Amino acid sequence: MEEIEKLNIEILEEIKEIKSLTDLEEFKVKFLGKKSKIIDLMKNIKNIKEINNKKKFGQKINDLKNKIELLINDKYCELNLAFIEQKLRDENIDITLPGNKINFGNLHPISYILNEIIDIFVSMGYRVIDSHEIENTYYNFDALNIPKAHPARDENDTFYFDNDHVLVTATSPMQVHVMENNNPPIKIVSPGKVYRFDEIDSTHTPMFNQIEGLLVDKNISMKDLKGTLDFFVKKLIDKNVKTRFRPHYFPFTEPSAEMDVTCFACNGKGCKICKNSGFIELLGCGMVHPNVLEKVNIDSDKFSGFAFGIGIERIAMLKYQIDDIRLFYENNLKFLEQFYA
Ligand code: DAH
Repeated sequence: MEEIEKLNIEILEEIKEIKSLTDLEEFKVKFLGKKSKIIDLMKNIKNIKEINNKKKFGQKINDLKNKIELLINDKYCELNLAFIEQKLRDENIDITLPGNKINFGNLHPISYILNEIIDIFVSMGYRVIDSHEIENTYYNFDALNIPKAHPARDENDTFYFDNDHVLVTATSPMQVHVMENNNPPIKIVSPGKVYRFDEIDSTHTPMFNQIEGLLVDKNISMKDLKGTLDFFVKKLIDKNVKTRFRPHYFPFTEPSAEMDVTCFACNGKGCKICKNSGFIELLGCGMVHPNVLEKVNIDSDKFSGFAFGIGIERIAMLKYQIDDIRLFYENNLKFLEQFYA
């Protein structure tokens, strides 16, 4: 019994001194481990003859053992709490400090203009269908009324994979796919990359971006085409911009036209950019050729339509007054960062 009392005092003294979880672990081994005094004392129980004493002694040891466990538990909680509090103090974050600025980047000017153009047509009820990058020559040429002898079909103008497959030379082939798969009324724009076997210079690259437009319905005439494109440029550039339609030739439209707009730079007064004409050529357009409609089984007596094709780089160059198309593809941040919104 005396031993137990001594042990009790020893335990209470030692637990007070414990300052860390490692100390506590040592304490646990010392007082509850296999080689601890408690275990020694327990082993002694069997040597006690008198049954009442045996019971009392056993009870005392058990109480002491429980007490040690409780002490350890309390100490553990105390130390752990202190540890967490210290950690919170150490890792305290001043949320009022300004953070590190993250550079989000920005859209490429071509994507930016393209999105603007798409938004305008979507606001007029046009659906957007991405153009293909590879086409069967039927879609790229024949279905668009581009005859066998047309220079666009020449190997020096077009990238061929084999006799029947090309990198698209325009977004116009999408007109054919859309008309094959849908009945009028049809109202779509189709953006995409196009490829031509061009020498690279300040206005030519073998790849550039276009967006095609197509509307087919009953009673569509040139005035719908003019009204739509006039509205479009006024939205895209400025409400005071004036448009002008010049007769032109495209195999897949009849009549065909090129649309000019009053010069962005001088508002039509005449300057270096518009070569003193006051106008700048913006896009190609026309009424869908009856041959094209008939190829996709749309009755050209009942339906008519208009189409247009817009070069995105061209618009971006005019809008931002950029004089070299190659700048768009060089990924020079000094150039691109100028368009950060
Ligand atoms: N496909 C023509 C080109 O790449 C652009 C074009 C002109 C598209 C007239 C059209 C159009 O839909 O009607 O130069």
